Amino acid sequence: MTRFSTRAIQAATRVPHVNQIASAVPIYQAAAFSATDAAELGDVLTGAVHGYAYSRIDNPTTAALAAAVAELEGAESGLAFATGMAAIHAAIVSVVRAGQTIVVTNAVYGTTRDLLVRVLGGLGIAAEFVDPTDPAAVEAAIARTKAPALYVETVSNPTIVVSDIAALAAAAHRHGALVLVDNTFASPYACRPLELGADLAMHSATKYLSGHSDVLAGVAVGSRERIDAMRPILVDVGGALAPLAAFLVLRGLPTLAIRMERHTETAIDLAAWLQGQEGVARVLYPGLPGDPSHAVARRQLSVYGGMLAFELSGGRRAGQAFLDAMRLAERTASLGSVRTIISHPPSTTHRQLDEAALAAAGIAAGLLRCSVGLEDVEDLREDLELGLAAAVEAGQAK
Ligand SMILES: Cc1ncc(COP(=O)(O)O)c(C=O)c1O
Repeated sequence: MTRFSTRAIQAATRVPHVNQIASAVPIYQAAAFSATDAAELGDVLTGAVHGYAYSRIDNPTTAALAAAVAELEGAESGLAFATGMAAIHAAIVSVVRAGQTIVVTNAVYGTTRDLLVRVLGGLGIAAEFVDPTDPAAVEAAIARTKAPALYVETVSNPTIVVSDIAALAAAAHRHGALVLVDNTFASPYACRPLELGADLAMHSATKYLSGHSDVLAGVAVGSRERIDAMRPILVDVGGALAPLAAFLVLRGLPTLAIRMERHTETAIDLAAWLQGQEGVARVLYPGLPGDPSHAVARRQLSVYGGMLAFELSGGRRAGQAFLDAMRLAERTASLGSVRTIISHPPSTTHRQLDEAALAAAGIAAGLLRCSVGLEDVEDLREDLELGLAAAVEAGQAK
């Protein structure tokens, strides 16, 4: 008979054998998986046989999430990461080496820009920023820099510009460059970049995929070859996703379609309403017939999505007054949640850009970005009315 502590350890780690299939993917909350003998452990660790050894390398719950997103994106393979940034980092460094230049569309998420300029720039990878609405200029930049990759956001953060992925991918491929697409804003319900010619698609699964603002996660999908090239970066850098986090994202996926439909329906309503309001200089939403991205969006997106932006004529002060006056929408930088979120990129996600860089990225001082949630549209309109009244007052006080 073993002694108490030994018995406690063995009793508490005896994993039940289940013959029936659970109705949800179980959370394999384990750091490691034991093999039946040394040969099996060696085979699993070297990849000779498929199996699990250590959760930084692979875990059944995180693997189930990666496979699910790959299936929704029409990809051969996927990898899950601790955050969207970990997925984006791994995707970029799997295709670009020190001494090379990556061509990047100019209105990208602020932290992606920081990753490129501050972190990868320090390691000898250069980034050249281009206008995604000018495929000829993008192609010229790829040709001139001999870039091995083009980096694009399906719908840009925060200016809601829809990139013509098919045209950009064709241009990049003419010069042998791979195409990496951050598909966070669109989600695979609205757009599947690989079907349009992209080589890798990345997600901040923190956003629409999970949908409830209660988890951080990232996913990258692509061909088996491209994803296998990213695997060592995941394993060696260590940005692995926790099993509980993977479970939370898996729980969001079955409702992705109905959430995206509802986000879109409300966003169309609010965008059209905002257009006629005092104090609003411009509304940026691809679902509006007059929007510069409307034609590309019609071709490329199955729904226009829940992200819209609008410029207040009162500038930075009006933007801040608007945020302070809202009662319902959350004042934060995230997006893709059940709750409506409004942010002021010049003072939050893009605060690292000076006035010239903001202008180059098409970000006006009075730009507000709105992630339209699932609340009742009338309540949201009333909240926007409060914000607008405060913005107009702040603008007049100038
Ligand atoms: C378009 C886009 N890509 C990537 C990220 C980074 O994702 P995460 O915060 O999960 O690292 C964000 C976060 O806001 C984003 O908006």
